[in-house]
Amino acid sequence: MNQNPDKNENKSLWHGRFLEQSADELQQLNNSISYDIRLFSQDIEGSRAHAKMLQSIGVYSEGELSEVLFALDQVEEEIRSGSFEVLPTDEDVHTYVERRITEITPSGARLHTGRSRNDQVATDLRLWTKQALTDVARMAISLQRVLLEKVIEVDGAVLPGYTHLQQAQPVPLGHHLLAHGWAISRDVERLLQAITRMDVSPLGAGAMAGSSVPLDVDSVAKDLHFSRVFDNSIDAVSDRDFVADALYVLALLGVHLSRIGEEVILWSSTEFGYVELSDSYSTGSSMMPQKKNPDIAELARGKSGRLIGNLAGFLATLKGLPLAYNKDLQEDKEPLFDAVDTILKILPAVTGMISTATFQVEEMREQALSPYLATTDLAEWLVQRGMPFREAHAVVGGLVARSLSEGVALADLISMDENLGEEAVALLKPENLLNSKKTHGSASLGKLDEQIKRFEKKIISDEDQL
Ligand code: ARG
Repeated sequence: MNQNPDKNENKSLWHGRFLEQSADELQQLNNSISYDIRLFSQDIEGSRAHAKMLQSIGVYSEGELSEVLFALDQVEEEIRSGSFEVLPTDEDVHTYVERRITEITPSGARLHTGRSRNDQVATDLRLWTKQALTDVARMAISLQRVLLEKVIEVDGAVLPGYTHLQQAQPVPLGHHLLAHGWAISRDVERLLQAITRMDVSPLGAGAMAGSSVPLDVDSVAKDLHFSRVFDNSIDAVSDRDFVADALYVLALLGVHLSRIGEEVILWSSTEFGYVELSDSYSTGSSMMPQKKNPDIAELARGKSGRLIGNLAGFLATLKGLPLAYNKDLQEDKEPLFDAVDTILKILPAVTGMISTATFQVEEMREQALSPYLATTDLAEWLVQRGMPFREAHAVVGGLVARSLSEGVALADLISMDENLGEEAVALLKPENLLNSKKTHGSASLGKLDEQIKRFEKKIISDEDQL
């Protein structure tokens, strides 16, 4: 895109009312073309649909419509190939496209009939966001599929589950990985819901009150593949809930990727030693030769901050706005574009990092089989023999305290205990420990297959909706 600062003699869209040219300072602040040019194909698509509808109601003849459609194709090609020149009076993508169409054919001057940039920008941005969220959903599903592959690959692996980052109870590694997978699954669900909610055409709302020209809003909506038409012209041009929805869904997805990142950072440390990242998804140090750093995981964690910032900032922009359109709404695009660009960089990097990572299953297993992690099961074993849980908790807790203070193996204390004995010691055997849980969705190796099936089924049903 070339900026031509000298050609300011071009007329602004409102030149009829104004005697003087716009000040440079106004243009510097007001112009959004440097970033909203990204909406060019949606803008041109919207104009094609609007022009066809104008022909159907007699504003354009067949011949004029062909001229306008030809001009729209040409402008699209110019922008796509980068061979276009922006003038200071080209405030935004809508202004630019209209100017060029009108330079190519005088019929361009009728294109804005019954239309305002207010309903135009709302239309363009909805079309763009629908596509962007679809792309994000596809990538999020790829991450789910990689998690699923890993779950199958590490079949039988176990690690300590944590609460308060203290070892809690042994869990299958697959169960832990699927916990992240289900969070991403909810993100995909939210993306699909947001897409459905924003699937409303605002075109025909005009500046804010509709039009006295008998526009066919339904045919335009259909042409643009919107499933519904707005109900209220004021709401149609003021509503940016769809941007806020998108920012929230992306921020939460970013938070989930950040939590995955945080665990990869911990697990890849020498102290944990649970995962080894591939060289191609790690970085080194410029000074310390031994270092291998999990930068992708750290950036997933770090960039979630700006995703949250984009949401919070945009809600602050919206909160004081009177109806209907206000120029503040132009501030919808940069946070949205930034959030989509950011997530589209994090997602594939995290996906690649996980698919190429090697889990150190021996280290994990060694930690998972610590007898202390079996103590909840021991207490439940007593409960199943009639002891109230609170009492059972205290009995087992007493043995843990003695084992730690006297340095005696927990198994020996269990076997000597009058309430527990040899039968209870068997609970510490790996195969018992890893299959002790009976409840739905629990952390038992034997329960994992059912969960894997449910997870895969959900992926397939979400894919069908895309
Ligand atoms: N560039 C503007 C935006 O993004 C387009 C709408 C301009 N409307 C207006 N009444 N000035 O919101």
